[in-house]
Amino acid sequence: MYDIRRVEELIARWENGERSAEMRKVRNEVFDVLTLRTLYKLMEQKYIVRLENVISTGKEANVFRAVDPSGEYVAVKIYRVETSEFRHMWKYLDGDPRFFRVKRNRRSIIRVWAKKEYKNLEACFRAGASVPYPIISRDNVLVMEFVGENGIPAPRLKDVTPDDVDGFVDTLLDSLGRMYFRAGIVHADLSEYNILIRQDRPVIIDLGQGVPWEHPMSLEFFRRDIERLRAMLSDLGKEYTVKELLTILETRGKGDG
Ligand SMILES: Nc1ncnc2c1ncn2[C@@H]1O[C@H](COP(=O)(O)OP(=O)(O)O)[C@@H](O)[C@H]1O
Ligand SMILES: [Mg+2]
Repeated sequence: MYDIRRVEELIARWENGERSAEMRKVRNEVFDVLTLRTLYKLMEQKYIVRLENVISTGKEANVFRAVDPSGEYVAVKIYRVETSEFRHMWKYLDGDPRFFRVKRNRRSIIRVWAKKEYKNLEACFRAGASVPYPIISRDNVLVMEFVGENGIPAPRLKDVTPDDVDGFVDTLLDSLGRMYFRAGIVHADLSEYNILIRQDRPVIIDLGQGVPWEHPMSLEFFRRDIERLRAMLSDLGKEYTVKELLTILETRGKGDG
């Protein structure tokens, strides 16, 4: 658990060069002292009150369950600065007109990456796609709506099958149509790992690598997404051709309502 007092104390201990099992755990969870400072600011400015437990430790980021001042759960995604594959990230940043003249050092790239996930979520949320509502991005930290119930994170499509497959698929295609053709964002990492199931309906997550159509590789990323979508739906017993999917997504995205 990290609240403002503890974060303050940890910053001091870190700067003292303390090497202990406890500090090693902190390093594994929140990575570095600059991230502790960022968390401190987010707490000071009342975006969050405390981080509770780690929900996910990934290659590029850790995700925590946190609590905001009204007592609601929020999700806090912290990108690793040191070990992130920033060469790989560059491919998804370079050519995005929203972020030009990005400095090519680690910390700037990661900061812009978190901002990109924020902007993508914002655009998709506004377009009515089912994604977590973004709250703020600061440095390598993104705060967003917690997807789950009673503090328990929603499972991934990878791990559970929806009860009402027809309804689930319908909502998924509607959300993706809105994402690609109303918000104008290509997810670029669509998979059953990045779709959560809340109340038997999809919530699409992990939009950091998402790019707008203006990006030079958007079409390539889009083709890959659609092929993965086709395979995913086939696993759910729903067979579509790529051509059929394109028509459905476009109709859904461009329709009104
Ligand atoms: N907003 C959220 N609410 C609840 N759980 C989340 C949220 N965002 C991510 N998670 C959990 O954290 C995991 C990793 O998040 P993701 O954004 O996919 O990052 P990664 O880059 O590590 O794949 C997800 O599979 C999910 O279990
Ligand atoms: Mg993911």
